[in-house]
Amino acid sequence: PADEAFLRSLPKCEHHLHIEGALSPEVLFRLATRNSIPLPSPSSDPAYTSPTTLAQRYKSFTSLDDFLAYYYRGMAVLLHPADYEDLTYAYLARAHSEGVRHAEVFFDPQAHLERGVDFDTVLSGMRAGCAKAEAEFGTSTLIIPCFLRHLPADDAWTVLQSEAFRAAAERREFVGIGLDSSEAGFPIAPFEKVWRATKGMGLRLTAHAGEEGGAENIAEALRVGCERIDHGVRIVEDAELVERVAREKIMLSVCPLSNVALRVKKSVAEVPIREFLDRGVRFSINSDDPEYLGGYILDSYVAVQEAFGLSRDEWKTICRYAIEGSWCGQDRKDVLL
Ligand code: HPA
Ligand code: ZN
Repeated sequence: PADEAFLRSLPKCEHHLHIEGALSPEVLFRLATRNSIPLPSPSSDPAYTSPTTLAQRYKSFTSLDDFLAYYYRGMAVLLHPADYEDLTYAYLARAHSEGVRHAEVFFDPQAHLERGVDFDTVLSGMRAGCAKAEAEFGTSTLIIPCFLRHLPADDAWTVLQSEAFRAAAERREFVGIGLDSSEAGFPIAPFEKVWRATKGMGLRLTAHAGEEGGAENIAEALRVGCERIDHGVRIVEDAELVERVAREKIMLSVCPLSNVALRVKKSVAEVPIREFLDRGVRFSINSDDPEYLGGYILDSYVAVQEAFGLSRDEWKTICRYAIEGSWCGQDRKDVLL
């Protein structure tokens, strides 16, 4: 069987990591002070008494929306390119120490824009953090801005049309776009125009689907052109769709610890890892929001191993799926394989 040293040594790729979700309670409090951003008063929410009480509160999320409220409030302490650079570098250093060789990192431009933080401030900071990590550790990195599905699609369209977005897309400073935030009650269909236009710009497409929403959201995401699905665990509700993603080699970026923390699943054992392996569904194992939802990528691999007792060959298959499903070039994949 595979032990922790083996899991650490595997050449891992992470495809589902929100950089804002790598903000630790300690850094959150420190940046709030440094950037003069007031946090909610402990009398309104005792979780904000100290980093320790905040970390404690993160252990009892009741739903995706309960988490998202803390996640959006937390990221308000991020203002300057250096804040994003430090956050990105710290994540990549940790990921490297856990055997991540290639990372594709999400950010939520609209959640920063609405606070007056430019697209370029976030992107340039993240790129600097990536460049430093690439030079130091040899990690390859890609960046993926995600649109927020709880906001009108018109809002995403405005970002897409902005000079900052178009210029960065042209320079290939990010590889594609994603869609995240609350899923239930927010279908992808209104974003179809945004998705088509993005594809026309030669960018890749993914979307969160089948996390708190059903398998029909996965089918919709594929209909509007997604090449990958983030989460996707509820796909097992639709046997035909399972067969289709296996046949078409569409990768799901699964986040087992997140699923448990947000009560999508009661335990890691309920995440359909066994079904995916048996039916040839390609997936990667990811941390989602490691500082909020229970751990980093190695914690996730260990939790899956504890729940499923996979063989070394099965782990090698999972890592091969992750490499092949990455959005880096074939030359980089050949090095990783
Ligand atoms: N789901 C939806 N939105 C998110 C998530 C998630 O797992 N993480 C950060 N934003
Ligand atoms: Zn996510």
